[in-house]
Amino acid sequence: MNSPFSLQGKTIFITGASSGIGKETAIAMSRAGATVVITGRNPERLEETFNFLVGDNHIMLATDLTSAEDLLVLVDQLPELDGIVHSAGITGHLPVKFIGEEDISTFFRINYEVPVLLTGRVLKKKKLKNKASVVFLSSIATRYPYFGGALYGSAKAAIEAYSRVLALEMAPKGIRSNCVSPSFVQTPMVEQAGQTISTEVLDKFEKMMPLGFGEPLDVANAIIYLLSDASKWVTGSTMTLGGG
Ligand SMILES: NC(=O)c1ccc[n+]([C@@H]2O[C@H](COP(=O)([O-])OP(=O)(O)OC[C@H]3O[C@@H](n4cnc5c(N)ncnc54)[C@H](OP(=O)(O)O)[C@@H]3O)[C@@H](O)[C@H]2O)c1
Repeated sequence: MNSPFSLQGKTIFITGASSGIGKETAIAMSRAGATVVITGRNPERLEETFNFLVGDNHIMLATDLTSAEDLLVLVDQLPELDGIVHSAGITGHLPVKFIGEEDISTFFRINYEVPVLLTGRVLKKKKLKNKASVVFLSSIATRYPYFGGALYGSAKAAIEAYSRVLALEMAPKGIRSNCVSPSFVQTPMVEQAGQTISTEVLDKFEKMMPLGFGEPLDVANAIIYLLSDASKWVTGSTMTLGGG
């Protein structure tokens, strides 16, 4: 008998698959039996992920999701889906007194608008099957403020609110929506952040986490649970992955 944690027979679309959490999740999903549709901005790195996927029939579509036109083309190319993982995102540090209009647009575009528009478009085009599962990448930054994290934390808080409404509106079709909310995970995003946060501050963060920093696979495994039938009664939730 198939394990309820298996993704066998499911087709899952994932953004941000060219790096970090998205890359690891795409590979782990293929190992769990899913057919995976991957997207990312950088074609070379996306191809690298593609080459790690286990099994056949996976699809690779390189796109800059902040281009409204490219986003429409992408959705038209998608097959019918059993799940979506919205992992594409950006971070950065900007003290509140320096926040300008353009900064708000930049942070909210990929972290909030893109997952919202993509989900809506997929629904309109009837590409999300009944009982499908949608997973958003939020962040612990919504609840634990840090200097310079206003825009990142706000955009992630907004996507959590959106996810809860999506869960409510889609419940009649059995479509579920959940967020995972990781703390520090060792990915290129955090390495990049390390260029603007001092080693002392990063060490302080790590000491605050009894289980230390996470690995991309820790997040991937939680996402697989939320995509699988094992979580069929879980919706509108946010799972904290904080290392304690
Ligand atoms: N790492 C952490 O500690 C952490 C903690 C909490 C939440 N998160 C969230 O987890 C998600 C993944 O983070 P990560 O650490 O894996 O980051 P990452 O390694 O920097 O990967 C980010 C991904 O987003 C894609 N992306 C960015 N802008 C894009 C655009 N305009 N169009 C298409 N794709 C775009 C990147 O594509 P290219 O590489 O092709 O440019 C890349 O695949 C993000 O939403 C992040 O906010 C991360």
